[in-house]
Amino acid sequence: MVSPKTILVTGCAGFIGSNFVKQFSQRFPKAKIIGIDDLSTGRKDALDPAITFYKGSILDEKLIEKIFTKHKPEYVFHFAALPRVFDTIEHPRHTSEVNIIGTVALLEASKNHRVKRFVYSSSSLVYGNDTKLPMKESENAFDPKYPYSVQKYVGEPFCKIFSELFGLDTVCLRYFTVFGPGQYGDSPYSTVICAWLESLYFPKNKKAFITGDGNQSRDFCHVNNVVWANILATASKRRFVGEVFNVGSGSPIRLNEVKKFVEKYTGKQLVLARLPKRIGDVRHTCADIAKAKRLLGYKPITDFGAGLKQTIEWFKARRA
Ligand SMILES: NC(=O)c1ccc[n+]([C@@H]2O[C@H](COP(=O)([O-])OP(=O)(O)OC[C@H]3O[C@@H](n4cnc5c(N)ncnc54)[C@H](O)[C@@H]3O)[C@@H](O)[C@H]2O)c1
Repeated sequence: MVSPKTILVTGCAGFIGSNFVKQFSQRFPKAKIIGIDDLSTGRKDALDPAITFYKGSILDEKLIEKIFTKHKPEYVFHFAALPRVFDTIEHPRHTSEVNIIGTVALLEASKNHRVKRFVYSSSSLVYGNDTKLPMKESENAFDPKYPYSVQKYVGEPFCKIFSELFGLDTVCLRYFTVFGPGQYGDSPYSTVICAWLESLYFPKNKKAFITGDGNQSRDFCHVNNVVWANILATASKRRFVGEVFNVGSGSPIRLNEVKKFVEKYTGKQLVLARLPKRIGDVRHTCADIAKAKRLLGYKPITDFGAGLKQTIEWFKARRA
């Protein structure tokens, strides 16, 4: 495996970014980790004190230039984003600046400073509603339902273009519904898993609900798998030109089943308010992970049951 000397992690105080920093530093203890986050949705307490942290925005050109010039990162892991779908509906312009221009700014700095590889966090939301299951990267034409889907999608061809025009090595990872320790359940973006656990362990923060008949299914992917896919993308000896890879579990679960698992593992009864089906909500998601298996050597390392138990332990240990 490669042993990176210096990496830059954007969004290092967020749910996925902070899990990534923790696991990356355990695997590569000698690597220097530089982080940037404006703490707009990220949390100070999720920051690893061992990293070199810059509080600021990826839109701040001077700051980005300073970081790249000073630290010369070999790899860039771009997690920073405003990923709440409803935020992107309410604030399409500002979220587009962060989610699109922010990505292009980092690609440009990576190109100028000869970064070895740029790993982009994309989303399964770039697939639309009428998708063929399991969802394959090569099928299902882009069919956005929200500004967020467009914003995340646009980063992918930008990665490809930077590879083709400037020779910057870029990889795009399309994460499916990610859950795990570090995901607070009181935001509109939380998975049902963390929202339901929040309602069980912090009932003041959250009232649990379910939309529709509960037979909709999701490819829930534990955050360890997402971190692992990023590490594999770093290690790969291939040359990437914006290749897109699904990162999921490949095994979708219906929400009614999730409820049973949550009740079984917590020993608590979930009382769910029934709400109507959300407009535009995708009925089923299921990642085809064959390409990531074949080319990155990816396979999920934490399955749903183990991931749920780990997440419950985190909720139990949380003070507030
Ligand atoms: N969580 C999921 O299920 C999921 C699924 C698909 C894709 N993704 C993608 O993965 C990435 C990480 O998502 P997450 O769930 O950890 O979200 P998150 O909100 O927990 O983390 C995003 C981080 O980016 C930071 N940020 C926002 N705007 C910034 C700016 N202008 N400058 C610097 N930092 C800024 C936030 O403060 C936050 O810490 C995002 O790119 C998201 O689109 C997440």
